[in-house]
Amino acid sequence: MSTTAMTLLADYRIPDFLIEKTHLTFELHEGYTDVSSQLSMVRNPKGDQAAHAVLHGEQLELLALAINDRALQPTDYQCTAHTLTIYNVEERFVLHCKTRIYPEKNTALEGLYRSSGMYCTQCEAEGFRKITYYLDRPDVMSEFDTIIIADEGAFSVMLSNGNCLSDRIENGKRIVHWHDPFKKPSYLFALVSGNLSCLEDRFVTQSGRDVLLQIYTEAKDQDKCDFAMQSLKNAMRWDEEVYGREYDLDRFMIVAVDDFNMGVMENKGLNIFNTSCVLAHPKSTTDAAFQRVESVVAHEYFHNWSGNRVTCRDWFQLSLKEGLTVYRDEEFSAAMNSCAVKRIEDASFMRSVQFVEDAGPMAHPVRPESYLEISNFYTMTIYEKGAEVVRMLANILGPKDYRKGTDLYFSRFDGQAVTCDDFVACMEEVSAKDLRQFRLWYAQAGTPQLHISDSYDVARQQYRLNVRQSTPPTAGQAVKQALHIPLKLALYGKQGAQTLIIEGVNYGMETVIDISQAEQTLVFDNISEKPVPSLLRGFSAPVKVHYDYQLAQLQQLALLDSDGFCRWDAMQGLMRNVLNARIEGGDHTAAQVVLIATLKQLLERFSTMDAALLACLLTLPSEQYLASFYDAANPAVIGQERAALHYHIAVELQAQWQHCYDALAGNVQGLSAEAMAARSLRNTALSYLLDMDSAQYRSMAMQQFAQADNMTNQFAALKALVHAEHAQLEAKQALQAFYQQWQHDALVVNMWLQVQATRPWGDTLLLVHELLQHAAFDGSNPNKLRAVIAAFAQQNFIQFHRADGAAYQFLAEQIADIDQRNPQIAARLLTPLTHWQQFVAPHGALMRAALASLTERQLSKDVYEVVSKSLTVN
Ligand code: PHE
Ligand code: ZN
Repeated sequence: MSTTAMTLLADYRIPDFLIEKTHLTFELHEGYTDVSSQLSMVRNPKGDQAAHAVLHGEQLELLALAINDRALQPTDYQCTAHTLTIYNVEERFVLHCKTRIYPEKNTALEGLYRSSGMYCTQCEAEGFRKITYYLDRPDVMSEFDTIIIADEGAFSVMLSNGNCLSDRIENGKRIVHWHDPFKKPSYLFALVSGNLSCLEDRFVTQSGRDVLLQIYTEAKDQDKCDFAMQSLKNAMRWDEEVYGREYDLDRFMIVAVDDFNMGVMENKGLNIFNTSCVLAHPKSTTDAAFQRVESVVAHEYFHNWSGNRVTCRDWFQLSLKEGLTVYRDEEFSAAMNSCAVKRIEDASFMRSVQFVEDAGPMAHPVRPESYLEISNFYTMTIYEKGAEVVRMLANILGPKDYRKGTDLYFSRFDGQAVTCDDFVACMEEVSAKDLRQFRLWYAQAGTPQLHISDSYDVARQQYRLNVRQSTPPTAGQAVKQALHIPLKLALYGKQGAQTLIIEGVNYGMETVIDISQAEQTLVFDNISEKPVPSLLRGFSAPVKVHYDYQLAQLQQLALLDSDGFCRWDAMQGLMRNVLNARIEGGDHTAAQVVLIATLKQLLERFSTMDAALLACLLTLPSEQYLASFYDAANPAVIGQERAALHYHIAVELQAQWQHCYDALAGNVQGLSAEAMAARSLRNTALSYLLDMDSAQYRSMAMQQFAQADNMTNQFAALKALVHAEHAQLEAKQALQAFYQQWQHDALVVNMWLQVQATRPWGDTLLLVHELLQHAAFDGSNPNKLRAVIAAFAQQNFIQFHRADGAAYQFLAEQIADIDQRNPQIAARLLTPLTHWQQFVAPHGALMRAALASLTERQLSKDVYEVVSKSLTVN
């Protein structure tokens, strides 16, 4: 890779110029848009005193350029494909610029584009430069004034950030003027114009200010906004109570758009949402999707403080806003729902997706050091691992000091663009804790491993835990240092958790040990029997723990541990014991007997346990997660053995599944937490039952499908049928009925596409080709690409890894094609191929060949970066 094109953290320099005020005028015409800007620029007193001003700009047609009303001559400036340089400027000047852009031709969905007729923008990270010439970097914060002009009657709403100052008609044009009083970087700019309906509500803040809340959608979707509105109000209240953060504008707007590369965008006062993250109705939305709406609405709202009021100095600091905001939304969701289940879901996601990223060619620290294309760094590491790092800080400080730390952070840096280190420094200042070693979490990539062994001394009544830590090398970081790892633990005896006494100090039944050395030993006194250690409680750090548990110990933890995560982890351990033996061709019978006995005991208690937690405990680890434990994973064997164990569990516990399914029938209506939990458990039972080739279960699923009054149950039945090879006839019928019923609802049609693309049996690649030809498919819509191509490549392990490698080649061809229109989406679709080094021959070589075939094409920076990093063998 040519290193000159790379952006390096080490090269950061403060901006030479600042923009105090930004005036923008958008004239929307059919086919093109003219953007006039007036930038009040001033040389940065702290900068390099550069003579020339260099602005960013891409794909712009320059129509006019003036300084303080003097038109510039060709010798006064220079334009390249990425910049506009203006020579020898004054200390202070107003730059007038007019550019023409073509939103209707914008298929990359970055900058100003059209989606289903509406105009909308996406500027993070570097999209504003596709709208006009600007200092498009987050440390340049400016006050924005925006005027939108369109034909009278063309659009019902014309929105931008902040407050609406005027809205008038003049000579057949509608002119709407917006002003945002808060300084912001250009990536938070937004504009929307379209024919939209609006759901309104109000929120009174803790200091008594009345805020107008609006959710804009197409008219047909207005009945699907109530849940997002309620979630927004809950999030606003929660942020006041938990972080003391109040909303600052008089108006908060959300707009739903169909065509969106990512989930959502936190533009100041005007969040833009992918429809999939805001629309929800019990009839058409699953429980999982409801929960996603709740967390995403909260996440974007929380950005108003963690991201907007206090923003990032440069894009290497991305996790400053994303890690913190994900941690905030995780805690919010935990408070609104079951905390144990939320923690398991987040931990499971970390282990099965982020750990894999951290072990692959795209591994990078939470604060990366270089990038070719910043869009490739909106990753699990920045978001989820970043959130875990903030969580560790919060736990190390405790709730009081953590709150003091965030208060200090928000007040000290309000209106500024800062760094991850500024955040940690606040935590250090309020707590007087030494966080120097902790800071390595931001700089070091890779998943740390803890190898833990123990010994018990009966005579001394002493229990010793030996903890060794190491982090595997990652690209560019061969040698790793020891990290500060908070290890939360308890010790279980026959009578339950034991009191923890270390060097005479009593720590109660559970404590956090600060692991900071490469190797250290913990000694617990007054321990009357050899205990079972319950390790990494609550997933207290994003690390892998290796401890050689006996089957009976795992069983004990799975049944009794008071920590939900550890219970789930113990079940995963039991399941992996069986699966590893099966995959490696060893003897799995003993482990399997213990697993079945444990599952049976759990299922017998289903009426006295949290059903949602129980559903988690009953779920097998994914194939992708299983594969991550091998250097040369054999996908066919992993898929086959996992399916075989699933079938075995179905058959052995058939009576229990059946009983569970029948007994819960009465509790599965409505949106209460209990109903959702019951649905989750009952549909888990259904998926096991459908493993068996039985007409009775097929008709049971068909009945559930036909009678369901909510999407969770309807879709669970559809999925169980479509994914069961013996249910082809019923599946065909159900798929037809489903399409018939839902063809006018794009989001449900996406589920219809996805359930087929993830079918584990038969020739699914062929089916995927058919889906791409279906009238419901649209290759320019990112949600559709995700529903078919990403679902097939990322959620259909067995079929994606078919032996002939045809699916790899298929994916590469699709990516080459999509890259012409939408590089960001193309680059994201590459992920499954990047892990080629993990797979056994011929898979690894075939995956690599598919990647290599892309190098013969004309590639975007986005795809080029991922392909070239993946092909480099360390
Ligand atoms: N900043 C958005 C969020 O996490 C994600 C995003 C990134 C959206 C880049 C669009 C482009 O909330
Ligand atoms: Zn975010």
